[in-house]
Amino acid sequence: MKNLSGYNRKKIFVTRKLPEAAMKILESKAFDVNVWTKETPPPKKVIIEKVKNVNGLICLLTEKIDEEVINAAGEQLRGIFQVAVGYDNINVDVATKKGIYVTNTPGVLTETTADFAFTLLMATARRIAEADRCVKTGKWKIPWGLMMLLGQDIWGKTIGIIGLGRIGGAVARRAKGMNMKIVYYDVYRNENLEKELGAKYVDLETLLRESDFVTVHVPLMPSTYHLINEERLKMMKKTSCLINTSRGPVIDEKALYKALKEEWIWAAGLDVWENEPTDLNNPLLTLDNITVAPHIASASYATRTKMAVMAVENLIATFEGRIPPNLVNKEVLKK
Ligand code: GLV
Repeated sequence: MKNLSGYNRKKIFVTRKLPEAAMKILESKAFDVNVWTKETPPPKKVIIEKVKNVNGLICLLTEKIDEEVINAAGEQLRGIFQVAVGYDNINVDVATKKGIYVTNTPGVLTETTADFAFTLLMATARRIAEADRCVKTGKWKIPWGLMMLLGQDIWGKTIGIIGLGRIGGAVARRAKGMNMKIVYYDVYRNENLEKELGAKYVDLETLLRESDFVTVHVPLMPSTYHLINEERLKMMKKTSCLINTSRGPVIDEKALYKALKEEWIWAAGLDVWENEPTDLNNPLLTLDNITVAPHIASASYATRTKMAVMAVENLIATFEGRIPPNLVNKEVLKK
C-alpha cells in the first residue's frame, strides 16, 4: 500500500446523500466532498469519471463497482467504503489487485435486520398485507368470519435458518422467544448457538423438508446464486413459508412463482429481488400468497445513520493511515 496518511483535501465522492450525522463528520474533516444528490444512483459513466479523480468512494449496494469501474480507477483511489453489510456489488478481487481497500458495515444492522426478517415471517404467516388490503378496499363484509384469512401458527413450529451468521443468529434468538424448534444449515457449524438455543445443524435437504418456515441469511456469491431453485422448493412442506431478506438472486424467482402458484409451498415473504426495483410486471406481484417489501430490512432511522457513520469512520481511518476497522479484503495489506 502506498502512504495513506493525511486526509487534508482528499477528494471524496459520495454516491447518495448520507444521514446528517455522517455528513457532519465528513464535513468536519478537511475533505473535498462531492455528493450525488439525486435520489437515483449515479449512472455508471459518472462513477467511472469519479474514480479516475477521487481518493475515496462512499457507495451503496445499488452501485455496480465492477471490473470496468475499478480498472478505470486512477492510482489515487485508496478505498471503496460501502454503506451496507453485503458487498456483492463490488468486485473485491480486482480492488485487491489494485491495492484498493474495500470496507462494509457489519454488526450495526444485525438486530434491525433480524427484527424485519421476523416481522416479515409473521406478516407472511398471518397474511397481514392481505388483511390490510381487505379492510382498505371494502372487502370486509362479514363482521367475524370463522374461516376468514386463515394463516399458519408460528409458536412452537420449526424454523429452518439458511446461514447462521450474525443476522441468522439474531433471527434464531427471536425464534427461541417464540418457542420454535430451530434447525440450520451453513457452511460452518456454530456450536455456541447450538448450545445457547438448542439449534440443530442439518443438511440443506433435511432443513427444507422439516421446516415450517425457511429463512435465508446468506451472502450472494457464486455458490449461493439460485440456491433455492425448483428442485429445492419441491422439497419444502406444502404448508411452509419462505422468507428472504438476504439477496434476491439467492432464490430463483421463476421457480418461486411456480411454487406459489401451484401451491408446492404455502407462502413467501420477500424483501429482496433478482432485479431491484422489481418490475411491476413481475408475475410474483399478481399472487396473494406473497408479502413483499422494497429491500428495507435495515431501514430504521437509527441503523441507517449508524451504517453511514461506520462507512465514514472506515474512510477516515484509511486517510489517517490506520487500517479501517471493517476492511473486507485484508489481503490488500500484504501489497
Ligand atoms: C443491506 O442489504 C445490506 O447488505 O446492508
